[in-house]
Amino acid sequence: MELIRDLIPLQSAIQAWRRQSQGIALVPTMGNLHAGHLSLVREAKRIAERVVVSLFVNPLQFGPTEDFSAYPRTLESDRNALAAEGVDLLFAPTVQTLYPRGQADQTLVVVPASLSEILCGASRPGHFTGVATVVCKLLHLVQPDIALFGEKDFQQLLVIRRMVADLNLPVIIHGMPTVREPDGLAMSSRNTYLSEAERAIAPELYGTLRRSIERFQRGDSLPSVEQRALEELKDLGFQPDYVQIRRQADLHRPEEEDTALVILGAARLGKARLIDNQCFMKGGG
Ligand code: PAJ
Repeated sequence: MELIRDLIPLQSAIQAWRRQSQGIALVPTMGNLHAGHLSLVREAKRIAERVVVSLFVNPLQFGPTEDFSAYPRTLESDRNALAAEGVDLLFAPTVQTLYPRGQADQTLVVVPASLSEILCGASRPGHFTGVATVVCKLLHLVQPDIALFGEKDFQQLLVIRRMVADLNLPVIIHGMPTVREPDGLAMSSRNTYLSEAERAIAPELYGTLRRSIERFQRGDSLPSVEQRALEELKDLGFQPDYVQIRRQADLHRPEEEDTALVILGAARLGKARLIDNQCFMKGGG
């Protein structure tokens, strides 16, 4: 596996593959890789001849009080894990390489507020602009036929799909199911922030979402289900941000006739901000 940090060698590698008409898959990450990331990499290997993984802790998507400097950086072990998976190229640029004019002087990709300023976007202003901007740059640099993203970050996946549709980017966006620990906790690089006691409580975010779906299916009203979930999380020791039931397609509030729904939750637990979600069919399983 080649490790490339600069743009020119990246362009050469991509062009060589393109000339040979080889299909390219891209898996963008911020590193500190776990089995969730690796499930994306394995799927990429299955569907494309060449797999590029990007590793970049993107300052543009972190708020001023967020964990950009504390974010776990584990390049050596990430590199070994990716080499073992048979990844062709690891692209790990510096901040200076991706934002040579500085972050304040960077052209931005702004996805409409109705999608990017709700839920996580409401408590993390500018977060999805940072995500859309860096993913747009990575798509242009790597020119993949397909790019893979996890449903764990459900709103992020929809933001990226929307950007790709609105800007007519020639790439297929492939969503992948959330990989969980045996006790149900969604794998996340931020789980390393949890103390032992917090780690024991953490799976209850997913537990609360699942119990909330059951209550909704039994006929409890949407506001009462959401309110009860927030109370339950508080009682368990979380500081909940939101629990909301939305339409899968666009994260709008569901109308009576909508059936493809998703419950999304975000809560702080100690130093970690955890998010999770579960798709479900109204009236179904
Ligand atoms: P990061 O959090 O490193 O995640 C990289 C990719 O792995 C994302 O598509 C994310 O949804 C997916 N992923 C994370 N945990 C997962 C899990 N438990 N199961 C399945 N997939 C999982 O998301 C980002 O980085 C960044 O915002 C990025 C898209 C790279 C832009 O900077």
